[in-house]
Amino acid sequence: MSLEADRWVLLGTGGTIAGQAAQAADNVGYVAGQVGVAELVAAVPTLGGLPLELEQIAQIDSKDMGLAVWQALARRIAVHLERPQVRAVIVTHGTDTIEETAFLIHRLLRPAKPVVFTCAMRPSTALVPDGPQNLSDAMAVARHAGAGGVVVVCAGQVHAARDVAKVHTYRLDAFDSGDAGPLACVEEGRVREFRPWVRQESDPLRGANALAPFLLASELPRVELVTSHADAGGDLIRSLLVMPGERALQGIVVAGTGNGTVHQALTDALHEAQARGVRVRLSSRCARGRVVPHPGLPFEDAGGLSAIKARLALALDLLEG
Ligand code: SIN
Repeated sequence: MSLEADRWVLLGTGGTIAGQAAQAADNVGYVAGQVGVAELVAAVPTLGGLPLELEQIAQIDSKDMGLAVWQALARRIAVHLERPQVRAVIVTHGTDTIEETAFLIHRLLRPAKPVVFTCAMRPSTALVPDGPQNLSDAMAVARHAGAGGVVVVCAGQVHAARDVAKVHTYRLDAFDSGDAGPLACVEEGRVREFRPWVRQESDPLRGANALAPFLLASELPRVELVTSHADAGGDLIRSLLVMPGERALQGIVVAGTGNGTVHQALTDALHEAQARGVRVRLSSRCARGRVVPHPGLPFEDAGGLSAIKARLALALDLLEG
C-alpha cells in the first residue's frame, strides 16, 4: 500500500441501511433509501475523525438496481481506486441485490485495493439498528492491511463477492458464502482471517476490456433466468422466442435441478433457443454446491456461479463480445 494512501471514500446507494420506518418497532414496514450517507456516518462514533470522503451515488431500494446506477457506481469506484491517496472504497447498498452489484464490480474492476460493500437488515430508525455496526465493521475491513478485492461485510462476517448470497429474508446474518465460507470475521474492530484472502494485482487492461464497454452501453444484453422443476414445460422459452420484446433475447441461464439436470421438455425448448443463436448456460437451483462439470451436461456450465450471478456474467460476456 502506498504511503500516500491516507483516506477512504464512502459511496451511498440507498437500501435498508438508509431506510426509515414510521415507528421504531417496525423492522419490515419501512421505506428503503431515505437517509443520506453523511447522516449514516454521523451515527457511527468509530468513524469520527477519520479522513472519509462521502458521495451519494443513488438513493434507491436495491430491488430496482439497474444499468444506470451500476454505471455511475462503477465509474466513481474506478476513479477513486485510481487515486494514490485512497486506500479503499466502501459502498452502502441494499441487501436484496448486493451480491449482484458486488459481483459486477469484482468482474469489471478486479481491484487490488479493497472495495467493501455493506448493508443492513433493519432500517436506520429501528430500536436496535444493525447498520451502524455493519458500517463500523466495513471500515475495519477497509483499514485492514491484508484486505483487497471486492467483499461484502454484514453481521460481523466478510464474504468474497463471488461467493456471497443472501439466504435469509429477515435475520441480521442474512448472508452466506456457501461451501467456500466467509473470508474473515470482524471482532471488536479487528479482522480475523479464516482462509487465504485472494488478492488481485491491479490490471490496467481491465478498464479497456471490461469497464469501457460497460460504461458506454445503453443497455445490457438481455439474458433471462429460468428454473427447471417438476412438471416444467417449454412454453415460456417459446414465447420469449416468438415475442422478443424491446430487447432481443441473447441469453438464458437455466437453474437446473441437482447437479445441473434439466426437465426434458424445457431442454427441448432451450435447444430450439440455441438453434436461434441464444446462448444457454447452466447453473443449479440448489443453495449449496456447484454443478460438477461432466460430458453429459446438457448446456454450457456457468463455472460454479449461482444462477443470479451467472445471468449477470453471461450478459457481461455478451457485451464484451
Ligand atoms: C434493499 O435491498 O434496498 C432493501 C432491502 C435491504 O436493504 O435489506
